Amino acid sequence: ILKMTELDLAGKRVLIRQDLNVPVKDGVVTSDARLRASMPTIEHALKAGAKVMVMSHLGRPTEGEYAEEFSLAPVANYLNDKLDAPVRLEKDYLNGVELADGEVVVFENVRFNPGEKKDDEILSKAYASLCDLFVMDAFGTAHRAQASTHGVGQFAPEACAGPLLAAELDALGKALDNPARPMVAIVGGSKVSTKLTVLESLSKKVDQLVVGGGIANTFIAAAGHPVGNSLYEADLIDQAKALTANARANDGDIPVPTDVVCGKEFSESAEATLKPVAEVAEDDMIFDIGPDSAEALAKILENAGTIVWNGPVGVFEFDQFGAGTKRIAQAIAESDAFSIAGGGDTLAAVDKYDIADKVSYISTGGGAFLEFLEGKTLPAVAMLQARASK
Ligand code: 3PG
Repeated sequence: ILKMTELDLAGKRVLIRQDLNVPVKDGVVTSDARLRASMPTIEHALKAGAKVMVMSHLGRPTEGEYAEEFSLAPVANYLNDKLDAPVRLEKDYLNGVELADGEVVVFENVRFNPGEKKDDEILSKAYASLCDLFVMDAFGTAHRAQASTHGVGQFAPEACAGPLLAAELDALGKALDNPARPMVAIVGGSKVSTKLTVLESLSKKVDQLVVGGGIANTFIAAAGHPVGNSLYEADLIDQAKALTANARANDGDIPVPTDVVCGKEFSESAEATLKPVAEVAEDDMIFDIGPDSAEALAKILENAGTIVWNGPVGVFEFDQFGAGTKRIAQAIAESDAFSIAGGGDTLAAVDKYDIADKVSYISTGGGAFLEFLEGKTLPAVAMLQARASK
């Protein structure tokens, strides 16, 4: 695919689709990881003499309706503070925008436009007509075939990948296509159902698959242990058994924890009790792995050549249930493996345990990261490939 860094941008009207979908509270951005990752692209385009327009979605508003809580105003304010250039939020842009040299124009939430999520052709053409070059840089939204990520790229005079998208594809491709072995994937999070396809595809690719959180509870139940009141999916026990059998047939395994930390209620003040996994009581909820299990996982990570991390292994937002995730974070930090981490909760854990600079690559993608791990071609990337081969 064509890359922005290979093109002469001087004097061009450049429209950059970024993933500026960040959490906002009371009008202030509360986690700026995606913004920090996106800014170098804007800076590069400005330096190269482009007239820069940036567009993104934020949240999931009712499509076609303005709603202040989903406004990109807090993001535009953040960028205005952090960038060396004035940043202006533009609400009405579909019929053309005034562009001054050295200024950045941020378009209001693209999901306020009717047709955005349907990849509507008229809307896509309206975006395309605003620019000389469309830069797709939103890795986190590259799994969506929508007007601002996909359609616009088909109609813009030129379309290319931005530096962030290119870097994500590079790093994740490196980890998955030709991984240093052994390759270990840790997939945590609450539900097997939302990650079943990624578990299936990783179980074929990796040497060791480790499950955590609510996902592990279903595997614990599948191994015949009691899970008490824990979150788990009874209807996916057969799938969990099949995944484990499959891993074993390929000389691997999906280990279940030998000890767990339980609580009686999901709360910040819940008392934590350590138990062997076979002794979980009816009114227990499993909220973390125990120290023996954490040590066993740390050992596996110590010897890994490649580590893929998506999802915590416990309810780490409550400190008494955070030790397992903390131990894993430390083991990743200490490992010489090429490590990649992605997904909202995972990044929160990376921040909490302060290992950001010890992970080889941190992805800005949530759903897009998972689809990439599944081996799917992301629609926005497919669009760029199709344009490049024309
Ligand atoms: C994300 O946060 O994963 C991306 O910004 C995509 O958002 P969406 O799931 O609302 O399309």
